[in-house]
Amino acid sequence: MARPNGPLVICVINLKGGVGKSTISALLSRYALLTRQKDVLSIDLDPQANLSQALMHTNYNDFLIEKRPSIVEIFNGYQPPAAGGSGPKPLSGGVELIAQVGANSLQLIPSRFDFSDNLTESLRPDPKVLARYLATNFQNKDVIIIDCAPTESVLTRAAYHASGLVLVPVKPEYFATIGFPLLQESLVSFRKSNRGHQIDVSGIVVNNAFYDGGNNGGPEKLRALADIRAEAAKNGWPVFKTEIPFSRGFPKIMRGDHSYSGNATMFPHFAKEFFDTIGL
Ligand SMILES: Nc1ncnc2c1ncn2[C@@H]1O[C@H](COP(=O)(O)OP(=O)(O)OP(=O)(O)O)[C@@H](O)[C@H]1O
Ligand SMILES: [Mg+2]
Repeated sequence: MARPNGPLVICVINLKGGVGKSTISALLSRYALLTRQKDVLSIDLDPQANLSQALMHTNYNDFLIEKRPSIVEIFNGYQPPAAGGSGPKPLSGGVELIAQVGANSLQLIPSRFDFSDNLTESLRPDPKVLARYLATNFQNKDVIIIDCAPTESVLTRAAYHASGLVLVPVKPEYFATIGFPLLQESLVSFRKSNRGHQIDVSGIVVNNAFYDGGNNGGPEKLRALADIRAEAAKNGWPVFKTEIPFSRGFPKIMRGDHSYSGNATMFPHFAKEFFDTIGL
């Protein structure tokens, strides 16, 4: 059932690479459908297309070969044809169906490797295009999860225009918080020029996305955690209590291999805290 005020829209972002943004976006999306029984849309805003590959697996190749519409077409002004209309061939509206449970589904707006080239070619992509597209076509969804690229661009602003909440994954390592001031600056500057739009940091999630020799991180991790807490407090950002553990199961699950999930089976503990906190 659709929420009265439209979907909760969350962008998963850190202006630092390899912290688990795409992994967390994919797993939260599936959890929202399968465990929370929500109607979900995922959006891949990263030309690396990791979220698309993680959700589509081998179908991603067919999608590329068949040149099905993606986020590129949406930024270029694509609208799905009205039902029964004689417009362009209905290509499922730039949206891929990933999973369906009863009346709810997990759909994906996929990305393509040539996304960034397309954006530089179109003179000035309008950062409000995505927000408008979602308002027109996806008001009936319960939750929309946007996976962002690790660099700031017009796509970051597009994600902010579309989102009400920000989730920041972080690895507890040396230089963990290097992206925090950039992110805070970028949010402050966005809010200044878009006063009518409320966007809040829902929290920071500690993702142990590196092997620590089985010693639970040792003193380096403790130092990094103290730094994360201090930097987060400066900005008034909460830190989620539940950490995501290290597990070789995560890269396997992303490839669609469920033969060994290890500690990745603990992901739902974080997902529960996250969705409880944001009230989904
Ligand atoms: N908790 C974890 N334990 C083990 N490996 C992990 C964990 N989280 C993520 N990884 C692995 O770390 C790598 C980076 O993760 P991911 O692609 O999700 O990060 P990202 O922040 O989206 O990266 P990018 O900035 O390039 O978009 C991937 O190989 C992923 O499988
Ligand atoms: Mg990514």
